[in-house]
Amino acid sequence: MELDLTGPHRDDAYMILAGLVTPRPIALVTTMDPEGRVNAAPFSFFNVLGDSPPIVGFCPGDREPGVPKDTARNIRLTHEFVVNLVDESIAEKMNLCAASLPPGENELLHAGFTPVASSVIQPPRIGEAPASLECRSHSIIEIGDNRLIIGEVLRVHVRDDRVFDTEKWHVRPEFYHPIARMQAPNWYAKTRDMFEMKRPR
Ligand SMILES: Cc1cc2nc3c(=O)[nH]c(=O)nc-3n(C[C@H](O)[C@H](O)[C@H](O)COP(=O)(O)O)c2cc1C
Repeated sequence: MELDLTGPHRDDAYMILAGLVTPRPIALVTTMDPEGRVNAAPFSFFNVLGDSPPIVGFCPGDREPGVPKDTARNIRLTHEFVVNLVDESIAEKMNLCAASLPPGENELLHAGFTPVASSVIQPPRIGEAPASLECRSHSIIEIGDNRLIIGEVLRVHVRDDRVFDTEKWHVRPEFYHPIARMQAPNWYAKTRDMFEMKRPR
């Protein structure tokens, strides 16, 4: 099977790519508008992109052509955001944050999350998240309806002290259970089925 995303299958690109490029991690992004109103929304077009400096990227699509989602609009105006990572314990609350509430209505409270003050930026992090990354936007690249937001990670917060083995700086998987986005619209994966493969020298 060959699918032409520049021609007949252009309108199917989302279902094809979001189904095949899986599993994807989920960023539950908190932002503030210039009036200080908090917003939260999940994004799975997301990943860590580099470590020197440490950068992450995620990509809100426009709500309609030329009209950004609240997250993208807030970051364009304030340059600050928190990426809250998502594990099994907050999966359903994360999903509630994807509801289309009117701008300025607080998805965190709607979902029953606890906002916690960030250390160096204005938007709060989510107290229940397994890890949160305080970020400052580096650049926003607009490609069609996509707004690729790249941010530098300034601070990392980890909920459970056991997650890191601080001698080896390894994550202990028995204490960290992120979920991943699978086939759109409603499928997710747990990450408990792992295997080790040593890299060749
Ligand atoms: C798990 C999950 C992942 C999502 N990933 C994206 C994404 O990568 N890009 C996007 O534009 N919308 C994505 N959405 C939809 C947004 O979360 C949704 O449009 C949200 O209402 C945007 O909120 P905002 O206007 O407050 O920014 C995702 C939804 C869910 C549940």
